[in-house]
Amino acid sequence: MTPCFKRPVSEIAPGRQVCQTPAIDDQRAASYAFIPSTDVPPVVERAEGCTLFFADGREVIDAGGGAIAVNIGHGRSQVADAVAEATRRVSYVIPPWVTEERVALVELLRNRWLPPELTRVGFTSGGSESVDTAIRLAITHFTSVGQPERRKVIGREASYHGVTLASLAVGGHRARRSGFEQVLVDHPRMPNFDTEGLVRVIETEGPETIAAVIAEPVIGATAGALIPPDDWWSGVRTICDDHGILLITDEVMTGFGRTGRKFGIDHWDVVPDIMVGGKGLSGGYAPLGGVFATDQVVGPIADAGRGLMFFTYSAHSAACAAGISALTILEDEDLVAASTTKGANFLERLRPLEAHPNVTEVRGLGLMIGIELTANPVTGGSVSGTSGGLGARVVAEAMRRGVWVYPAGDGHVPDALLIGPPFTITDAEMDRVVTVVTESITTVYGD
Ligand SMILES: Cc1ncc(COP(=O)(O)O)c(C=O)c1O
Repeated sequence: MTPCFKRPVSEIAPGRQVCQTPAIDDQRAASYAFIPSTDVPPVVERAEGCTLFFADGREVIDAGGGAIAVNIGHGRSQVADAVAEATRRVSYVIPPWVTEERVALVELLRNRWLPPELTRVGFTSGGSESVDTAIRLAITHFTSVGQPERRKVIGREASYHGVTLASLAVGGHRARRSGFEQVLVDHPRMPNFDTEGLVRVIETEGPETIAAVIAEPVIGATAGALIPPDDWWSGVRTICDDHGILLITDEVMTGFGRTGRKFGIDHWDVVPDIMVGGKGLSGGYAPLGGVFATDQVVGPIADAGRGLMFFTYSAHSAACAAGISALTILEDEDLVAASTTKGANFLERLRPLEAHPNVTEVRGLGLMIGIELTANPVTGGSVSGTSGGLGARVVAEAMRRGVWVYPAGDGHVPDALLIGPPFTITDAEMDRVVTVVTESITTVYGD
């Protein structure tokens, strides 16, 4: 058995009690997988800025920001210190109680980040929980105002909102829904960017049965940074208003500067009734999600004496501390603006890839960039709607060459790569990513 760990954990974290075990060899690394697979996962020893240091000595550029989560870069000791301080002060109290970190994060979000209309702020441990909560919030709102029949949530065909059964049910990611369809609530689905199609769905279902419409401002995991036409979002907002339906925007991937604005929806000057966030809210430093809503949504729930059950770890103080710290760094270092300028620069450098016959489009907003791939340059995609895993092979090839990009695609965009690095990425790192992605596509698909 070849040890793949350069140094035992005891050397990396001297004086810690966690290191009584031997170095991580391939067998230990493989045993970590919940569902065993033939792939041995990489062992990550540490991370700094945009670089992941693997135990086998390799250095990998984190051009996917993990799962498009790492926005302020790795290795910020200021965040680690804030988390440690919060933990020392209070390890755990139930979510409805107040701690310094909880209330400070609510204030920071209200005062500096959220649209003024979104005054109510709640926390969860991540994106799926936030979407789940938003669905419960919308339904509870209508129960509270005497319209309990409004309980359907219209999602978009190409969409991903998480893996709890409720968030999976409103999402359209076929591969991730596969095998669960029979237990998923059958919520209606609107065509991708077709406002007339949305009206048809509402009329067919009956507006009086619809609680909310949910969509990601820019489609992430399902379609690789697919951007709606200019007038789509304002059209959806108007249709929701006309029919008394709440609008939920899922900013789990697009929020907190990823697209070069505070929130993805800001590109269209639309304010939702409920917004959910995750990923960038803590920059990957702690499991943290958020649910943000207007007084009009929440007020009637309070008036009716109802509530929403929390998750045990909702608003965990240490996670809130990470959130405060990450958002402060985003502001202090003007990183949302950096996402705009670096994103435009990165997009320009990647654009020549469109000359490759298997690249359909390179697109993006800020540092959320998608490269749509096609197995069949003539018809696009493939007959079966899947590309035979070629996108996954590009991801693996790029990893072999020292760059992590996030795999995306489903349905009519069978394969795409998502590039969503920390907003601190340097020119040299961008150059390296462009070279590696180009070489990887050529290796997998040919010239
Ligand atoms: C738009 C969107 N919503 C929800 C989720 C689910 O978030 P989480 O994986 O934190 O539960 C994701 C995850 O990728 C996402 O991209």
